Amino acid sequence: AIRFFEVNTGAQIPSVALGTWQAAPGVVGDAVAAAIKVGYRHIDCAQAYGNEKEIGAVLKKLFEDGIVKREDLWITSKLWCTDHAPEDVPVALDRIHWPVSMKRGSVGFKPENLIHPDIPNTWRAMETFYDSGKARAIGVSNFSTKKLGDLLEVARIPPAVNQVECHPSWQQSKLRAFCKSKGVHLSGYSPLGSPGTTSLKSEVLKNPILNMVAEKLGKSPAKVALRWGLQMGHSVLPKSTSEARINENFDVFDSSIPDDLFAKLSELEQARLVKGSPFVHETFGAYRTFEELWDGEL
Ligand code: A2P
Repeated sequence: AIRFFEVNTGAQIPSVALGTWQAAPGVVGDAVAAAIKVGYRHIDCAQAYGNEKEIGAVLKKLFEDGIVKREDLWITSKLWCTDHAPEDVPVALDRIHWPVSMKRGSVGFKPENLIHPDIPNTWRAMETFYDSGKARAIGVSNFSTKKLGDLLEVARIPPAVNQVECHPSWQQSKLRAFCKSKGVHLSGYSPLGSPGTTSLKSEVLKNPILNMVAEKLGKSPAKVALRWGLQMGHSVLPKSTSEARINENFDVFDSSIPDDLFAKLSELEQARLVKGSPFVHETFGAYRTFEELWDGEL
């Protein structure tokens, strides 16, 4: 029933995570508690989401109350762009969030804060962090096929995961095939196309083909989108702060999309939603164009 996928360290990554990007402080704690109570064992976090403190407090309580054990949880976090200097890595976290670096201590997305990343150097610090035993796996996020390939060439410990945007309307065919060939697990963020994010103008859940498949199966489009991800072999990280939708998004293990309808889902028009606009600048940082940031995967 696709509850876990194995990553290249041998660790088992739970296939459905609760996403916490844009889950506001004040509600995120209840969402995490509701998710764990219904069976989620993976919480997708990041320092940049500004809500890790509350998540930490809730987890501590859940451990103390014996609701879940720490060793049964997979907690993803991400190293923010200002913490790429090797000496800053161990104090920060266990994942690279973007292949983009920013000045130490800088706040926000001002272009003048962008600096050239030295990914091999940052990665060596991640490897040391892994050696220390503080992370069961280290990975990257928002890496194109090219950037992941370059990192694999110099890595002593290959990344276990590349977390990228992935849903039926941005299927990442090329990157997925590459990850598979290299044993890097793909985790899909915005698996519902982030419908609540007005800046992204997402229509993923409204896609007519997705809705046709959903109707035939008698499931919601959200469930079909998540189940599609699981059947493609990647973990999915749906964000919700509504208990009903947290439950709905975890109810995807019992029935699969049959081959004929699954094939229909490969016909959806493809478009990346998350472009990484703050990281592309004509003067500052490493990437002049979206083409360069994503190495043509647009
Ligand atoms: P809410 O938190 O109110 O449930 P993604 O994970 O792709 O970024 O999408 C998250 C967005 O999708 C949030 O706005 C969330 O709103 C909404 N959402 C989460 N689960 C569902 C669902 N099952 N059906 C429809 N919308 C959902």
